Order: sequence, then C-alpha cells, then structure tokens
Amino acid sequence: MRAIATAQPNIALVKYWGKRDVDANLPAVGSLSVTLDSLWTRMAVEFGDAPGRDRLEVNGEPAPGMVDRVSRCLDGVAGRERPAAAVTSTCNFPIGAGLASSASAFAALVVAAAGASGGDEDTKALARIAGRASGSAARSLYGGIVELSAGEDDIDLETLAAPGEWPLAVTVAVTETAAKPVGSSEAMTISARTSPFYTAWLARQPDDLAAARRAVRDRDFETLAAVAEHNCLKMHSVMFSSRPALVYWNAATLACLETVRELRRQGVPVFFTIDAGPQVKAVSLPGARDAVSDALGRTPGVVEVLTSALGSGARLVESS
Ligand code: DP6
Repeated sequence: MRAIATAQPNIALVKYWGKRDVDANLPAVGSLSVTLDSLWTRMAVEFGDAPGRDRLEVNGEPAPGMVDRVSRCLDGVAGRERPAAAVTSTCNFPIGAGLASSASAFAALVVAAAGASGGDEDTKALARIAGRASGSAARSLYGGIVELSAGEDDIDLETLAAPGEWPLAVTVAVTETAAKPVGSSEAMTISARTSPFYTAWLARQPDDLAAARRAVRDRDFETLAAVAEHNCLKMHSVMFSSRPALVYWNAATLACLETVRELRRQGVPVFFTIDAGPQVKAVSLPGARDAVSDALGRTPGVVEVLTSALGSGARLVESS
C-alpha cells in the first residue's frame, strides 16, 4: 500500500520553546502559527509485506541518520507490528536551516502513513502523532492561522482563521543555507536547564497567546505585530541567556530586523519573526509583499528571498 501526502511548513508568531515532557515531546507552552503555501514537502510512504528496517530517501539521497525518528513516527500511525516502509521525501526549500523543514516533513509523513496503512485517524489524532516527532509539526496539519494549546496530557489544535479569511504574506529572508549547529530539541533542553529567564518565559506565554488570539479575531495587524515581535525577542533572550549561549543570528539577521523596522517607520504593515536559525521571516499584509521582498532582497547578507501566502494543512494527494 502506497500513499503520497504534501504539507507546508508553518511559522510561529507566538513561539513554542520548552517541553513539559521530553520523552513524550509535549510542549511546555502553547503556540500560534501561520501555515505557508509555496514551500512544501512531498512525502511518499510505501509499506512492504514484512516487518524490517525502514528506508528513507530525502531529495534523492539515502538519509540513514533520520530513519529512527521517521520509524517511531510511522509506529505511531501504523503500530509497531507494521511492515517495513520505504519513505521518499522531496522538499523545495533548505532542510535543517530554521525554515521548519521538520514541521512539513512530519506532517506530510503522518498523513501519507495513514493513507498507506488504511488508518482512519482524524486530523487532531494525526497532529498529536506528528507533534511527538516534532512539536511544531502538529501545527502543519492545519491551514491558515493555527493555535496549539498545551494541555497536561496532550495538545489541542484549532484553526483561528482559514487561509482566505485573513490573507497575510510571509517573506523569508534566507541569510545562510547550512544546517543549524544545535537542533531545537537539544537547544530547548539547554534553555530549560540553564536560562535564568526560562521560568519567566513560561509564565508570560498565556498572555501573549491571548493577545495574539484576540488580534487574529479582530484582524488587528498592529497588535499582532507587536505581540509577535515581543514574543520572538523574548524567546531569543532565553536562548542568548542559556549556557552555552544559543545564538542563531548572524550579521544579516540583525540587518534584516533593521530593514523591517525601517519599512514600518515608512508606514509599511510588516513585522519580523525568527526561529532557531538565522533566517528572518517578515509577515505583512499582502499589498506590502513586493515592498518587503525588495527591501529584504537588498539587505546586505541576504542570499535569497522566498515569498508565500498562507496555505492549507497537510493533505493526501494519492493513495493506492
Ligand atoms: C523556534 O518543533 O523543531 O521553531 O519538538 O524538538 O522537534 P521539536 O522542536 P521544533 O521546535 C520549533 C521551535 C521554533 C518555534 C516554533 O516553531 O514554535
């Protein structure tokens, strides 16, 4: 049985940073994100006839280092007694560089695995399985603007606005294409253990989520911009104050922040956010997209600019 699914990455405006339970990969805080449209991962899963070792290919190359994580996720969908799978992933943007490639990958994987195994899990159940592989992946099961709530025992997800209900544009300024030095999981553990700001970060997250949720409901771009930038800088303050310090930024990252601030001074509706990597994501109203991508493209150190509207959640495109 074979199935193909696609999913797009999502960008958090209120960030997930920290785990309530490392083994179950449960987030310590809720988060709020936008799912993109034009970056994608396409995942094919084919189950064989017998149990055995799974095979994984990413962009045409064998990827043995990632197999264990993929296998655990497949077990979550199809059970541990399942036959071995051949998994083929194709992605149209850089992997492991802070562009949320694991979010789209695991979201597409759970949908493809459910399609290939004849499973009947609903979207929330699949999102919970994807979230165990990578917390942010749960959000890519849903489209538009999405809120993830972190409960005691599991996560919950809700679409706050479908892609067409509040069209926003996202411009990604790529400042470095190499994979990041410390992965998010390890970095979160370091932050939780060592940053003196971590407890304050956890305590203030419900306020940021409530403010962002209200801003989405009221289509209040200015408020969303203020909350998202504050939340992003707060998360990076936790990273900076960790031991060892987690500094994902480079000089171009900072130059992009200045570009976004200058655009805003000129009246352009745009704000920035940055994940565990050096790329800057600028969220704007759609009419401002070209001005934002031109300005970021001219910013020293920016190697590529990608633009995207908001898109839908992970979906099955083929099954046989
Ligand atoms: C900074 O989802 O990659 O992008 O659950 O350990 O796989 P794991 O972490 P991951 O972390 C994403 C962190 C972030 C913020 C966010 O997307 O909310």
